Amino acid sequence: MAIRPVTVPRRIAIRPCNIEMSYFVTGTDTGVGKTLVSCALLHIFASQGKNVVGMKPVAAGCDNDERNEDVVQLRASGNVLASKGQINPYCFVQAVAPHLAAQFVGINISLPRIIKSFTELNAQADVVVVEGAGGFLVPLNSWQDSADMVGQLELPVILVVGMRLGCINHALLTVEVIAARGLTLAGWVANVLDASLPMLNENIATLRQRIRAPLLGVIPYQERPDAIEAATHLNLTLLEQLEAHD
Ligand SMILES: Nc1ncnc2c1ncn2[C@@H]1O[C@H](COP(=O)(O)OP(=O)(O)OP(=O)(O)O)[C@@H](O)[C@H]1O
Ligand SMILES: [Mg+2]
Repeated sequence: MAIRPVTVPRRIAIRPCNIEMSYFVTGTDTGVGKTLVSCALLHIFASQGKNVVGMKPVAAGCDNDERNEDVVQLRASGNVLASKGQINPYCFVQAVAPHLAAQFVGINISLPRIIKSFTELNAQADVVVVEGAGGFLVPLNSWQDSADMVGQLELPVILVVGMRLGCINHALLTVEVIAARGLTLAGWVANVLDASLPMLNENIATLRQRIRAPLLGVIPYQERPDAIEAATHLNLTLLEQLEAHD
């Protein structure tokens, strides 16, 4: 396996949110609520009268009809008609790390193909919400990872912190690597996965103290998770407060 060259992409500029903007949603791990938050973001932007579409560049864990639950939910939350191939360029049956799922079927995940699909979606929509696979440093092929993809897509990142034991370390590691790759963290969401997590408020306060980007909201534990309900806990005006910078 080739060693990944250490490259630091240029820091991407971030515009205020009243100008239409797309986002990349990452998480502290797999299964922490990225799809729930991505769909909630799509609902909010759609309620503002925007044309919105979700994208899942790489999905690992599809049935034999190439049906993936994340893609189904993202499609249902958007209001722009787009093809399945544009929304989800890569879909693998095996629910394993994307580069391994691809390797298993003899495919190499290609960033240019993902960027082409994103560009097509971006041309049709005001806002594209792109959901990552797993966590931020998930490999996509033998030498590129999800952070490389975000750099090439030039998207600001929204981090979903799955509030459970261990999340402080996972969140701070992710925040550090976003900065180390020259990318912009637009905001983060505290998504409560463990209804009985001791010291929830203290955990959130600790993260607020250490993460410079705004906390966009705290989504409580939901017995029946619902993106529209989750959206009521998010305040995206905090994204508008970001100043343009190089
Ligand atoms: N606030 C919450 N309360 C209760 N359950 C939640 C909450 N957020 C997410 N879940 C549940 O946790 C599971 C994982 O959520 P979700 O699919 O959104 O995570 P993900 O990060 O997108 O996962 P993946 O890495 O597979 O894409 C789902 O069953 C979802 O319904
Ligand atoms: Mg998901």
